[in-house]
Amino acid sequence: MIKFNNVSVHYGCDEAETIALNNVSFEITKGEFVTIIGKSGSGKTTLLNVLGGITKPTTGNYYFEGNNIANYNDRQISSYRNEKISFIVQHFALIQNFDVITNICIPLKYRRNKKIPKKAYIYEVMDKLGILDYEYNFPYELSGGEQQRVAICRSIISDTDIILADEPTGALDEENGNNIIELLKDLNKAGKTIIMVTHDLELAKIGNHRITMKDGKIVAEEFTTD
Ligand SMILES: Nc1ncnc2c1ncn2[C@@H]1O[C@H](COP(=O)(O)OP(=O)(O)OP(=O)(O)O)[C@@H](O)[C@H]1O
Ligand SMILES: [Mg+2]
Repeated sequence: MIKFNNVSVHYGCDEAETIALNNVSFEITKGEFVTIIGKSGSGKTTLLNVLGGITKPTTGNYYFEGNNIANYNDRQISSYRNEKISFIVQHFALIQNFDVITNICIPLKYRRNKKIPKKAYIYEVMDKLGILDYEYNFPYELSGGEQQRVAICRSIISDTDIILADEPTGALDEENGNNIIELLKDLNKAGKTIIMVTHDLELAKIGNHRITMKDGKIVAEEFTTD
């Protein structure tokens, strides 16, 4: 489904150059739960951004279902992003002057294939995330963790093949963190490919494909079967 071929990402130039990804190659099969661990600054978010079509590799190629994403034009990239990928990011991007339910439904507005989930399903996910009471609240009326759960809800109901999650439990207490992990596991069982960055070694174990990064490189890759 996904193939990285010697992907590098360089930021800046000359002396100020940072090599955020250094010749990274790996493959991800549909339906895997991939966890990515590594120290701060090791390139985890950069890797997710390449996967999500946000950052273009400086060198190397990224294939999605056999297509080289580097050759996509802007329109193809945005439809790839909207229809195939959803992002649970460290800095959740909610639109401040839209209420919660409108924020959750934003990605659905741009769907060309009109695959819209049922209202009951949206409420079910909101309930599981503990944000059902906030349907008509605005983001500034919510705590950081509540805002993060709204962003997670939005990713989940957008029903894409791939979910990229960057420290999805980072800003949350244990109970809410566990609920999110359970949701991600359920989605994975239902066939979604999950790619999750985490600092938590215990949490990383729930993946069946684990990638360890260091200084922009993959230093270990493990697979487990259950
Ligand atoms: N837009 C950018 N411009 C310049 N350098 C960047 C940029 N984004 C990331 N970097 C650098 O690239 C390296 C990898 O960053 P990245 O965000 O991928 O790390 P990370 O593993 O996600 O770290 P963390 O665990 O702290 O989130 C770091 O040295 C960082 O400073
Ligand atoms: Mg990061």
